[in-house]
Amino acid sequence: MSLRVSELVNEDASLISRRCWSDERVYALEKLGIFGKSWLFLGHESQIKQPGDFVQAYMCETPIILSRGQDGGIYANINSCSHRGLPVCRADHGNTKRFVCPYHNWSYSVEGNLMTIPQETEVVQKPDKSQLGLKRVPRVEAWRGMIFGSFDEAIIPLGDYLGDMRFYLDAFLNRFPQGIEFIGAPHRWVLNANWKLPVENQLGDVNHGAFLHSSIIPKEAQDMIERLGYSVVTTPGHGATFRLMPEDSPIDEMAWGMEGMAGMFGGDEVQNYLREVQAQAAERVGDLRARMKGLTYGIYPNLSFLWSNTSFKVSHPRGPGKVEYWSWSVVPADAPGSIKKTLRTNYSSFFGPAGILEQEDAEVWVQQFIGSNIDFADDRPYYYGLGLGEEKPHAELPGLVSVTANEFYARHFFSRWRDELQAVEEML
Ligand code: FES
Ligand SMILES: [Fe+2]
Repeated sequence: MSLRVSELVNEDASLISRRCWSDERVYALEKLGIFGKSWLFLGHESQIKQPGDFVQAYMCETPIILSRGQDGGIYANINSCSHRGLPVCRADHGNTKRFVCPYHNWSYSVEGNLMTIPQETEVVQKPDKSQLGLKRVPRVEAWRGMIFGSFDEAIIPLGDYLGDMRFYLDAFLNRFPQGIEFIGAPHRWVLNANWKLPVENQLGDVNHGAFLHSSIIPKEAQDMIERLGYSVVTTPGHGATFRLMPEDSPIDEMAWGMEGMAGMFGGDEVQNYLREVQAQAAERVGDLRARMKGLTYGIYPNLSFLWSNTSFKVSHPRGPGKVEYWSWSVVPADAPGSIKKTLRTNYSSFFGPAGILEQEDAEVWVQQFIGSNIDFADDRPYYYGLGLGEEKPHAELPGLVSVTANEFYARHFFSRWRDELQAVEEML
């Protein structure tokens, strides 16, 4: 059966074919047109503070070592030996002077340069080691400590790529004098679903809460989202959802974290800390953003930020029907250790691999993938038309803005996705 990208997503992206989530040919185009061309999240500077520190990462299915060089610089190299392709780093994270390949023991510096070839003493022709380092990710940039890499040497600078999403990210990241910290190793788990399903959910789908998560999300919380909620698209594929609290809201209603388990059950120490953060918020991020109480964000193509339970997540594809989900707990860098621990427990309870909301979300992603793979239903694309054309510019909020029920965040994502796939379609 032939497949044309233009037939998968209609002009206004209100109708989207099931094949977008299930077809091998679509996935091959995504690798070239999206993962080969975008800025992809690698990690946070707090994970590699000291020279020699490293963590594992992925760019789509390509394994990456993210490291802090002896010169203090940030390096991202493909974790594959220049000799026969084995991974030279097996640990998830650590500190080292050398990565040593297990097969023939070629060794690489923490910056990825080839240092020694044990066998070369026995041959006459010496290989040029300067040409045989690990393959470096051609573009690596950081913003607010968040490190991204791109395989596209000509990609626009990271700051421009993030664009006005920086305004919304800063509403959280700038609340804390020392910024944020990623704590612990990421949780990682595999789902039988397409990588775009978690992405779309967290880009703007906050309206399923009252239904899918009715066991845990009280009706008042969902009513508040409907009353005070905003959905924003800054650039197609980037989006944010949040509540904008009324100016006269009591501090306990306004403060981030208070409505989570940490806030509810953490006792005076945690509650006083969260109130203190909120009390300084206007000074740090301005009056408007101090009133923002974030829900979920998405950064194109596959990074999500769950503000409410403070987690960054990356949806790593493993084929059209499998995703390896990575999820980090994020805490204010200058919070006392006991509070960091409580916040991490809060994150795990909701959005760790066994978190109650994560479990419910994962179930629907798997079910949607099954629905996207069935036969005899290609004439019934999914309907993405809710709120079509109702998003508008806003006097104070950058981007296009609408109510949270408007599915424009997904339409913009899939319009960009379609255009980027079409740009490489002829190559297959
Ligand atoms: S494969 Fe790495 S040293 Fe031979
Ligand atoms: Fe959910």
